[in-house]
Amino acid sequence: MSKRYTITAALPYTNGPIHIGHLAGVYVPADIYARYQRLIGNDVAFICGSDEHGVPITIKAKKEGVSPQDIVDKYHEIIKTSFEDFGISFDNYSRTSAKIHHDTASDFFKTLYDKNEFVEEISEQLYDAEAKQFLADRFVVGTCPKCGNEEAYGDQCENCGTSLNATDLINPKSAITGNVPTLKETKHWFLPLNKHELFLKEWILDGHKKDWKPNVYGQVKSWIDDGLRPRAVTRDLDWGIPVPVKGGEGKVLYVWFDAPIGYISATKEWAEREGKTWEDYWKDEDTKLVHFIGKDNIVFHCIIFPAMLKAEGTYILPDNVPANEFLNLEGNKLSTSKNWAVWLPEYLKDFPNQQDVLRYALTANAPETKDNDFTWNDFQARNNNELVAIFGNFINRVVVLTNKYYNGTIPQPAVYKEIDEETMATVKAYPAVISSSIERYRFREASQELMNLARLGNKYLADEEPWKSIKTDEARTKTVMFVALQIASALSVLCEPFLPFTSIKLKNILNHSTLDSDLTWKEISTKDVLLPSNHQIGKGELLFSKIEDSEIQKQLDKLEASKKANEVANKKTEPQKKEIVYDDFSKLDMRVGTIIEATKMPKTKKLLVLKVDTGIDIRTIVSGIAESFKPEEIIGKRVTVLVNLAPRKLREVESQGMILMTEDEAGNLVFVKPDNEIISNGLKIS
Ligand code: MF3
Ligand code: ZN
Repeated sequence: MSKRYTITAALPYTNGPIHIGHLAGVYVPADIYARYQRLIGNDVAFICGSDEHGVPITIKAKKEGVSPQDIVDKYHEIIKTSFEDFGISFDNYSRTSAKIHHDTASDFFKTLYDKNEFVEEISEQLYDAEAKQFLADRFVVGTCPKCGNEEAYGDQCENCGTSLNATDLINPKSAITGNVPTLKETKHWFLPLNKHELFLKEWILDGHKKDWKPNVYGQVKSWIDDGLRPRAVTRDLDWGIPVPVKGGEGKVLYVWFDAPIGYISATKEWAEREGKTWEDYWKDEDTKLVHFIGKDNIVFHCIIFPAMLKAEGTYILPDNVPANEFLNLEGNKLSTSKNWAVWLPEYLKDFPNQQDVLRYALTANAPETKDNDFTWNDFQARNNNELVAIFGNFINRVVVLTNKYYNGTIPQPAVYKEIDEETMATVKAYPAVISSSIERYRFREASQELMNLARLGNKYLADEEPWKSIKTDEARTKTVMFVALQIASALSVLCEPFLPFTSIKLKNILNHSTLDSDLTWKEISTKDVLLPSNHQIGKGELLFSKIEDSEIQKQLDKLEASKKANEVANKKTEPQKKEIVYDDFSKLDMRVGTIIEATKMPKTKKLLVLKVDTGIDIRTIVSGIAESFKPEEIIGKRVTVLVNLAPRKLREVESQGMILMTEDEAGNLVFVKPDNEIISNGLKIS
């Protein structure tokens, strides 16, 4: 029986393009799930849209000297187009600036207000007197009271995931001016989460212990165990949805109040367009609601939004919230502001028609149970060693041989041998195997099972060697090619959720469109024959092509360039020290010396113990340059030494002076040399 699914993917903030972290965490798994549910015949609404309110957008607009609307208009287009080009099959991609959303969110707020579900309270909130602005959410940064992260925001600590009130922060600072905020009274509406604690406990802690992912369940449990507190759902800002009740003038809804309602408004918009009833997807107990999100969104989707839905009273609650952990890039945290990312629009430009390669690499290495690292080398290996060498190679052999031996017509098999029976039975088991993984939200496992089916095909061909039997046993060859073609056909259907572009290509090659009816997921396990004898297939076309080292190097160079650019941008220039007079300067006694011995100071990373001939004497100087120079490289080097610096003990060794250092253009530490020759890391640069 067909089931109804409302599948949502976190609405991306519209302040920058999509990167691989978003894709791996949210959009690729959500798309696999949605495509799979459609493929097995379920009724799916796959919903997303741009999250256009909130402080990050205002900050970005300020920085660029444009209006927030300009920012969201620009990125909404970029994001929407790149999702389409990447094959993310949303039924609707809406935006929270749409009128239907403003109306829906406004009405939702009014309903809760009328039902007395809010607590109205005047309280002291953080205020930046210079910017004349209340500091909530990302307008304020401070130390997380829970984990000590010094860069926690006013509504959430991204390090430990805890949701915060701005006044919880230790040592808060305005993100606008850097000032220490003052307190100022203002009125807001609070959602009393404490009132919903019991319901949340029963619904999640008792009801979903088994089926929710341990990382999600664990986070939720720890918050509930800590005790829930009322949460302000309005803000003193001018960018957002106006608070629609008396006394709300000049205030807007908190972005995390309006954004999840965006799932509902986007469903409405879609239903209107398609002639469907939106309530079926949000108010019918038989509908399964699934939220795909990244781990920083857990509290909002598992506690706050459900509390809102419950308080409203007429909505269903999520059946599951399969949040992923984070993806890193080449060992470092992805960062929009540091440009440490692989941006989707750039990927699509650099790797045209290779959407499936990235989809596969991200799925095979998805951060499902722990943070994972994306590396370009892994990406290349997934393509070259799996997609090309296993999947592509199998299909290519089948198609080429069928064309060569039979002009592309599927041959008549003779009686099956045991190996043929076995192989076909294994193929038939695959839909259930892959389904089981997908339905438990284990997409990496599912993708590996798919690859195993291609492996099975390769092994079958390698064992049965039709290219040999063609010379001796025509009937056997026909059987083997027939079986191999069935595997190819099964692959074309089962790969669709993971590799949608490949699926289309492969179905074209196999001419699926001329079959009596489209093959379904289920038929792979019920039908004995997927592609019948005499069916005509097309000419081959390579499904995947090898990615060369040079292409990978280009991407690595790009990352290196942004690392360098960051280092330059982040270099803090120390303010100038207090003025001195010439007499102060003339007290410094600087001599040219020669390093005659150098050894590493035991148990330290940075220190070298040097013996330096200063011309006056030979003395010991401890210098913090061990990370830039090897001892043996610097023996014999002529250096500038401050000789009359008072001796100082460093790790039991008395240092009798200081070696003067400077930096070359590339930022490497170099000796201040008496002549123009600069020595850097042992290399002569001059
Ligand atoms: N924009 C948020 C983020 O990128 C996600 C919003 S999800 C929704 O973290 F539920 F609010 F829509
Ligand atoms: Zn924290």
